[in-house]
Amino acid sequence: MKTIGVMTSGGDAQGMNAAIYATVRYALQNGLEVYGIYEGYKGLIEGNVHKLDANSVENIIHAGGTILKTARCLEMKTDEGREKAVATLKKFGIEGLVVIGGDGSFTGAKILSTKYGIKVIGIPGTIDNDLAYTDFTLGFDTATNVVVNTINMLRDTMYCNARACVVEVMGRNCGDIAMYSALASGAEFVIVPEVPFNLDDICDKISHNMSVGKYDNIVVVAEGCGHADDFVKYIQNKIPGINIRGMVVGHIQRGGDATMQDRLLGIRMGARAVECLINGKTDRVIGIHDNKIFDQDILEALAKNNTFDWDTYNLVNDLVKY
Ligand code: F6P
Repeated sequence: MKTIGVMTSGGDAQGMNAAIYATVRYALQNGLEVYGIYEGYKGLIEGNVHKLDANSVENIIHAGGTILKTARCLEMKTDEGREKAVATLKKFGIEGLVVIGGDGSFTGAKILSTKYGIKVIGIPGTIDNDLAYTDFTLGFDTATNVVVNTINMLRDTMYCNARACVVEVMGRNCGDIAMYSALASGAEFVIVPEVPFNLDDICDKISHNMSVGKYDNIVVVAEGCGHADDFVKYIQNKIPGINIRGMVVGHIQRGGDATMQDRLLGIRMGARAVECLINGKTDRVIGIHDNKIFDQDILEALAKNNTFDWDTYNLVNDLVKY
C-alpha cells in the first residue's frame, strides 16, 4: 500500500482531530502518501481531496470539530453516489481509507470495500457512545464534561433561586451522556431511553424533596426520551407552584478542546488504523476495551447489541438522598 485517504463523516466529535493527526503522522513515518478527504462522503463524491503533509496536522490535537470538515450525505446511499466516490479514490490512487465516524459512516465504508475493493478501516467518532463493540467513542468524554460543567453552573443559580431544572442532553437513543453526566454532577434524577420511566413517580419525589426544603432538583433527560420543555410542562402541571426551568444543552456538547482521554483515544486509534492498512487488513473497525486498543470486523462490530450499564445507572439513584 502506497497511498491512503482519511476522512471524517457524520456528526463531528472532539478527538477526531487527534485521530487525523495520528493517522497522517503515522502514515508519513511509514512512507505512505496521505490525502485528506474534506466534508465526508460528500467531498469524496465531489472530489474535494487534498494532499496532507506533517505540517497540515500541526497544532490540531486539542481542537474540537474536524479540520477535514464533515457532512451528512444521502447520495452515498445510492449506487451512483458510490461510483462517483470510487472514481475519486481511483483518480488520486487511494488504496486504503480511514473513515472516522459513527455506524452510518462505517456502513458506507463497508460497501466501498465489498463492492469496490477499497481497503477500509473505521474509527468510532461520535459523542453518543452508542457503538456497542467499543467501551468508548471519540468525543463522548469531552461532551460529557461539557454537560457536567453546564450542570455545575446551573446548580449555582437554581439553588439560590429555589428552582428545579430539566436539562436535555444529546445522545440519540443512547443514554450514556445523560447517565454519566448526571452521576458526575450529582443530579437528582436521570431519564434515559434504555429504562422505562415513570414521570409521576419522579414528580412525587420532587414534591417530597420540596417538602423538606430541597428545591434545586436537577432532572437530566436524554434527548431520546423527549424534550425538556415537555417535561417542564408536565411537572408544572403535576406540582402547581413549582419554580422550574428547562434547558437544552445542545450543540456546545460537540465543541471545545478535547479532554486528555479523547486526545489519547484519537491518537491511539489513528495509529492502529494505519497499522491495519499497512498489514493489508480491511473491513475493520478500531475499538477500546479495558484500555487496550483492538481491531474487529466491521459487520461483527455493528451486529453487537448495546449492553446497558446498570451499575452506573443505579448509582445515580442510590447516591441521591430523598
Ligand atoms: O450523533 C451526534 C449528535 O450530536 C446526536 O447526539 C444529535 O442527536 C445529533 O448528532 C445532532 O445532529 P445535527 O448536528 O445534525 O443537528
